[in-house]
Amino acid sequence: MFAVYADSFSTDEPLSGLQVGDRPDPVPEEGWTTVRVKAAALNHHDLWSLRGVGLKEAALPMVLGCDAAGLDEDSNEVVMHAVVNDPSWTGDQTLDPKRSLLSERYQGTFADLVAVPRRNLVPKPASLSFEEAACLPTAWLTAYRMLFTRGGLKPGDTVLVQGAGGGVATALVALGRAGGLRVYATSRDEKKRQRALELGAHEVFESNARLPQRVDAVMETVGRATWSHSIKSLRPGGTLVVSGTTSGPDPENAELTRVFFLQLRVIGSTMGTSAELASLTELLDVSGVRPVIDRVLPMEQAREGFAAMAEGDLFGKVVFTR
Ligand SMILES: NC(=O)c1ccc[n+]([C@@H]2O[C@H](COP(=O)([O-])OP(=O)(O)OC[C@H]3O[C@@H](n4cnc5c(N)ncnc54)[C@H](OP(=O)(O)O)[C@@H]3O)[C@@H](O)[C@H]2O)c1
Repeated sequence: MFAVYADSFSTDEPLSGLQVGDRPDPVPEEGWTTVRVKAAALNHHDLWSLRGVGLKEAALPMVLGCDAAGLDEDSNEVVMHAVVNDPSWTGDQTLDPKRSLLSERYQGTFADLVAVPRRNLVPKPASLSFEEAACLPTAWLTAYRMLFTRGGLKPGDTVLVQGAGGGVATALVALGRAGGLRVYATSRDEKKRQRALELGAHEVFESNARLPQRVDAVMETVGRATWSHSIKSLRPGGTLVVSGTTSGPDPENAELTRVFFLQLRVIGSTMGTSAELASLTELLDVSGVRPVIDRVLPMEQAREGFAAMAEGDLFGKVVFTR
């Protein structure tokens, strides 16, 4: 089958290990099924994989991609939950110590066919296109859990979204607005700030600018470059939810004095459950909110999408179609 895969790692030139070509068809395990991919979305995770983060050398060559929507063996339209659990695990799927994401231990979604556990399939609402549905399982699901499960935000609360151009960040802005929150967003780039306003942010600011008021919660995916500002932007007792560190995991100042003196909560968040993915698809179905797509490319041109993400030159998701 056709596939986009990694055959080596490079920290400095991640695209050097990216291959576009033929790979064997997947053979589903007991309890698994095969999905014919119609659309798949790119995540920063795929770039990390090409750098050798989260992916072992022994697993190469590895088909990349966590996210996809397509047709199951009975031609039903489905979205795939990307978290693969140990078969014996029955708790919150994101807390399974043996969990992996598609493209870490099992072959990923940038291919004609992908094998997944049957329980990972969620029905795709007819109102969502395959391209839109493909954006949901990682970035949008992560944003949903950050805001509503881990952040515990309620209508009327104020939230700050850092780095408004990212895939998770655009989802945070749109979902936050749909959930009745007052949404502030930051970006280094004036055009991205304008786009964030169009997407639903109430007010936008340059990265690290002073806000008109302290917020109930900050959604952090940028890391080092915005951490200090995130902590300083919280009201006493406020909550910082962190799910990524695009600019690095080591802030110059962790602001620990503020964390204890203002009794702040710093909460990690990773992906989401298949039940949250089903709730997210329903939220989009009833609200009309749609993923922001920067560009749609035929899967054969995947390299172009990876290069744009590596350069940080995106607003929203890159989607590959078959
Ligand atoms: N834990 C999970 O389950 C999970 C799931 C999905 C993603 N993630 C992680 O979340 C992070 C975000 O991923 P993504 O795919 O949404 O987007 P991304 O392409 O990594 O971009 C995130 C945003 O970070 C900002 N940024 C990058 N470098 C910066 C710098 N030096 N200074 C200030 N801002 C900077 C940019 O915002 P502006 O250009 O607008 O300023 C950019 O739009 C990644 O690290 C990813 O690995 C985690």
